[in-house]
Amino acid sequence: MIVVFGSINLDLVICVPRLPRSGETVSGPDHQAFPGGKGANQALAARRAGADVAIVGAVGRDAFADLALENLRGAGVRLDQVRRIDRATGLAMIGVDPAGENQIMVAAGANAQVRSSWLEGMLATGDTLLVQGEISTAEIRGAMARARQVGARTVFNPAPVPAEDLGDLLGHTDVLVVNEAEAEEIARRLEAPADREGFAAHFGSGTRVAVVTLGSAGIVAYRAGERFRMHAPEADILDTTGAGDAFCGALAAGLDRGARLEDALRCAVAAGTLACTATGAQSSVPGDGEIAQFALRVVRE
Ligand code: RIB
Ligand code: NA
Repeated sequence: MIVVFGSINLDLVICVPRLPRSGETVSGPDHQAFPGGKGANQALAARRAGADVAIVGAVGRDAFADLALENLRGAGVRLDQVRRIDRATGLAMIGVDPAGENQIMVAAGANAQVRSSWLEGMLATGDTLLVQGEISTAEIRGAMARARQVGARTVFNPAPVPAEDLGDLLGHTDVLVVNEAEAEEIARRLEAPADREGFAAHFGSGTRVAVVTLGSAGIVAYRAGERFRMHAPEADILDTTGAGDAFCGALAAGLDRGARLEDALRCAVAAGTLACTATGAQSSVPGDGEIAQFALRVVRE
């Protein structure tokens, strides 16, 4: 079983002719509201990829809360550890340009109050804890320590990269997933190689897996000196928002069911690519059948 310890947001999305510069106003036709938040997106992706999934998080007592949880509820993600508290539901303002690239501003709201103590009794040996960077760093650390104690696997997607305790967090990570910008920031702060290959090889040593996602170019990953370079299949890209989340969710689902790393990565690349084919982070998150089909087109170098 996968336990996601993470954020739940409502996403307000405007498709614009180009992303604004600082101080600039750019207008688009309409806005759309979608469920989002990296925790929720990854939980949904893992669930659709076939895993048994629970999410631990928080929403407000406002009207956005139900909307934000709608897809998770529909997909059968366990929500009994999602607390309703006296803070606004997390909100993301997202601009998307015609190439599908985005710009995101997030208000943490209720997500800032999520506590690792809420994980009590939820993780057991062989389970997977899936965490991102939208929860307080101290609580992420607490969650990982709990996972380690019971012998659960930890999958960490430091997005955004936590401002402190990075070395400590990575020390508790079994599977690290970053994009190139996150890799560069982590490398700078921990004085590690900043190029994608060097980064993945450096952090993917011993039993730890390190994955750098490369957008439309696929991924590079390492584990114990073994290199996995995979190319993403062609797809009609509408909105890249949530691509990394779909990748992480599908990867965690594969590893949780005991798939070989190569197969789990292949499925994750397929899921991440398919997630870009509709507007909204959760709209085009694929199911296991679709992932299996599309994964046949992922080429390993
Ligand atoms: O990764 C995409 C997510 O980042 C969006 O759904 C938004 O809520 C932000 O958290
Ligand atoms: Na999308």
